[in-house]
Amino acid sequence: MITFQGVYKYYSGVAVLQNVSFSIDKGELVFITGPSGAGKTTLLKLVFGSEFPDEGEVKVANFELSSIRQREIPLLRRVVTFVFQDFRLRQDLTVFDNIALPLRILGEKERDIKPRVLEVLKNLSLRHKADSIVKTLSGGEQQKVAIARAIITNPQIVLADEPTGNLDPHASQDIINLFRRINTMGCTVVIATHNSEFFKNKQNRVLTLREGRIYEDSPTISN
Ligand SMILES: Nc1ncnc2c1ncn2[C@@H]1O[C@H](COP(=O)(O)OP(=O)(O)OP(=O)(O)O)[C@@H](O)[C@H]1O
Ligand SMILES: [Mg+2]
Repeated sequence: MITFQGVYKYYSGVAVLQNVSFSIDKGELVFITGPSGAGKTTLLKLVFGSEFPDEGEVKVANFELSSIRQREIPLLRRVVTFVFQDFRLRQDLTVFDNIALPLRILGEKERDIKPRVLEVLKNLSLRHKADSIVKTLSGGEQQKVAIARAIITNPQIVLADEPTGNLDPHASQDIINLFRRINTMGCTVVIATHNSEFFKNKQNRVLTLREGRIYEDSPTISN
């Protein structure tokens, strides 16, 4: 589903990803970890097609990112969605309208949109917030809305950058459990995080980056 082969990415002549190779199968849940500046966000951006490799190959579903055409990017974005660290929600719109947005862009009919948005909200225990303006929500609630918006189009791959960044441990665990559920429903999930709490006791694949290189790629052994 995602393959990196000998990938290099440079900013101002400095390599921020160096000879990165790995592959993620359909249906996997993978954590990307490593110290600040290791290249986690950059790696996700290469999958999302908002940055491109300088050397090597990045393949995502049927797309070859090193040679993808600009007009193919919207097609890629039907396959891959991104939960941004800063959410990037429309703060003055309601929760409902934020989540409906990707479906409206795809030209779906309002009568089809409504049940889908309400179903997702129900699954996230946010049904009662449908008509609330986003800026009135807590950080954890906004994080859930950002996730809802990312999954409403049924993408094959969801990328999340520090999805628990500003949340307390309880809210963080909720969010991670939510991603586990999304993964169980068949979606490939890649989460960049500093927080090793989420994977240290579980049998998850963890890809560790250090200074732009893959330092370790292993399932953590449960204890
Ligand atoms: N657009 C950019 N222009 C120049 N340098 C950049 C750019 N984006 C990232 N970098 C640099 O690339 C390196 C990797 O950044 P990246 O954001 O991928 O790290 P990260 O692992 O996500 O870090 P953090 O844990 O702090 O989020 C850093 O040294 C950063 O300064
Ligand atoms: Mg980052």
